[in-house]
Amino acid sequence: MSKVISLSNHKGGVGKTTSTVNISVGLSRMLHKRVLVIDMDPQANLTQSLGVEGNPQHNIYGALTGSYALHPIIIEENLHIIPATLDLSGAEVELSAETGREFILRELIDPLRNQYDYILIDTPPSLGLLTVNALTASDHIYIPLQAQYLALQGLTKLLEVVERIRKRLNRHLSLGGVFITQYDQRKVLNREIAQTIREAFQR
Ligand SMILES: Nc1ncnc2c1ncn2[C@@H]1O[C@H](COP(=O)(O)OP(=O)(O)O)[C@@H](O)[C@H]1O
Ligand SMILES: [Mg+2]
Repeated sequence: MSKVISLSNHKGGVGKTTSTVNISVGLSRMLHKRVLVIDMDPQANLTQSLGVEGNPQHNIYGALTGSYALHPIIIEENLHIIPATLDLSGAEVELSAETGREFILRELIDPLRNQYDYILIDTPPSLGLLTVNALTASDHIYIPLQAQYLALQGLTKLLEVVERIRKRLNRHLSLGGVFITQYDQRKVLNREIAQTIREAFQR
């Protein structure tokens, strides 16, 4: 049974996509895990980063809108992807009146859960329906944070959404952790903010 993990933070440019690429390649190549990544961001940076070109016939948009099941594309032996295409940007509006709209991704993933050790979901820089679908389908959320001024601003909002999803949509969702990206230990501000983040999340 796979672990489903969302990398999520509604702030853009914090390293969601880069971390999804690096973690998925690490898990598959170095730890020989079977990994599926799902690109839930209409910007399709994950899809492009992993070398999927053109307009893949089967993509996350078509699956979310009910045209077909998930058809993973093989990047390499243990690393598969459900790519995104630009038309995903219309999905939030198109699905907004659908009954059970928060559960669409979870239902799509269900038949694949035995085929992978890890399913990693890269999310868009928003807290809209695509992110809600990702979190409703996930066992864990990991939050990338930059060690920059105001890094923690907006995080309260994200944690509130996580809490609401846990209450209403997915009681299995847990905060796997936060991690710092783009860290430069030579910078005083980076070190100070990293310390603040550590203190805020120490268990
Ligand atoms: N851990 C990291 N160290 C250094 N640079 C990073 C790191 N993670 C991301 N970046 C850089 O930061 C920028 C934004 O990263 P990206 O993954 O696209 O963010 P997001 O998906 O959250 O919008 C990119 O230019 C990327 O190369
Ligand atoms: Mg991204």
